Amino acid sequence: MATLALFPVVQAATANAQEGKHAPTSQAALGQFMTPDSIAEFMAAQFEPSTLEEVRLLDAGAGQGALSRALAARWSALKQPGGRLVIDAFELDPAMIKVLRESFDRLNQLDRVSTTIIPGDFITNAVERIQRNERSYTHAILNPPYKKIGSDSPARRSLASVGIEAVNLYSGFVALALELLQSDGELVAIIPRSFCNGPYYKPFRRLILQRAAIVSIHLFAARDKAFAGDGVLQENVILRLRKGARQADVEISTSTDAGFADLIRYTTPFSQIVLAGDREQFIRIPVVEQGNKLASLKAYRSSLSEIGLSVSTGPVVDFRLKRHLRSMPDETDAPLLYPGHFAEGKLQWPRLGFKKANAIALNADTARWLYPHGYYVVVRRFSSKEERRRIVATLVDPKVLPKGPIGFENHLNVLHRSRGPLPEDTARGLSIYLNARVVDDWFRQFNGHTQVNATDLRTLPYPNIARLTELGRWSKANPDAGPDEIDKKVAGLQ
Ligand SMILES: C[S@@+](CC[C@H](N)C(=O)[O-])C[C@H]1O[C@@H](n2cnc3c(N)ncnc32)[C@H](O)[C@@H]1O
Repeated sequence: MATLALFPVVQAATANAQEGKHAPTSQAALGQFMTPDSIAEFMAAQFEPSTLEEVRLLDAGAGQGALSRALAARWSALKQPGGRLVIDAFELDPAMIKVLRESFDRLNQLDRVSTTIIPGDFITNAVERIQRNERSYTHAILNPPYKKIGSDSPARRSLASVGIEAVNLYSGFVALALELLQSDGELVAIIPRSFCNGPYYKPFRRLILQRAAIVSIHLFAARDKAFAGDGVLQENVILRLRKGARQADVEISTSTDAGFADLIRYTTPFSQIVLAGDREQFIRIPVVEQGNKLASLKAYRSSLSEIGLSVSTGPVVDFRLKRHLRSMPDETDAPLLYPGHFAEGKLQWPRLGFKKANAIALNADTARWLYPHGYYVVVRRFSSKEERRRIVATLVDPKVLPKGPIGFENHLNVLHRSRGPLPEDTARGLSIYLNARVVDDWFRQFNGHTQVNATDLRTLPYPNIARLTELGRWSKANPDAGPDEIDKKVAGLQ
């Protein structure tokens, strides 16, 4: 099991409770990453001091009970005279339950606190409750398991039976917990940031925004100290929702890690979190140091479709067209471009000793996957976290390539015009614009991982064609302009 600073899991958490220890495979399979105390306390402190006589808390995927314990400590410090705290903890793993039981035995000794462990699968249990229309909890606290849900799995079908579309256990758990809250109930969950803009999380975003108000979001800025679950390093957030409440300004806070040493808090209007008219309903987290410079530049207000352009992922999926791939081209083949063909800001083709193909045979099976000869801009879909910029755009200069169609491999995003080439100045202007720092800063506000999807590029604001052309001409006249000059040119374009 990977050692994750935010979730030092079972080594730390079970150091004094060996029964909870598991083989690495089952830890991963059950998403068993325990919350460190500092985060559990921070999460519990998110809840407003309750004036309720009875706080009914849901802890779904309770593990060893870190979150319930933290909430109980806060409640004890702030409780109403005569108030009660009732905790329902759901946990699947019998080994965890054993440790949880010991932990809850201690909680039960606190005045007016009672706990129940509900063993088994939370999804099945919650779905049954929702079907019985039970909405009894006033509070929910979660660090849910993080694992993809297969498209034809029982979990997916069970969630769908109550109208929840979830691609990962974490979004399924949060959606169910939200359903189980009574109106005005509060939910605090620590989850990966991927739901904020991942295309598959759109139904989840819609559900959150329909059912609840986002009260606050805490962002852990250190990606390498967080989940590495599906191979995409990404940031974590602590999301606080209030069911059925009117959406107001959102409190944003950030810290590098679980130490909270550099905690910053600020309030942001909701209109900057989810943009009006954004059909994807991306949840942006404006980061204070970076500000929202791009949005304040009047020159960049056009959408990609308004300027007549489109972006697609490279249509050539190489393993599907394996028998047509060529390591070196002959004159009847089309060039096939991979991310490896773009280095130091230039297209380099063909590459000798390249591990991937340089070309694809041109025939009836391949023709429909190719684009006509001409200028394009490509953006790598995956950057490494060491790279200075997430968006790395390069001009495809057709003069480097033989005449004839061009293949773009699936790890690239391609900017094009109706599946055809761009005018030269537009292409040059676009590649300069996409490589500018203001664009990268804008992108980082709402994208916490190292992927750049076509959807991300579609929602970016762009200069209009006249301005793109101006940028393109400038770049042609200044072929050696470095990043700082480009940043100045783009930021100064009013
Ligand atoms: C990320 S851990 C977090 C544990 C605990 N909430 C904490 O914060 O330390 C998720 C927990 O969910 C449990 N779990 C996984 N799948 C579950 C399911 N379908 N139903 C209930 N619990 C589940 C795991 O065994 C694990 O203890």
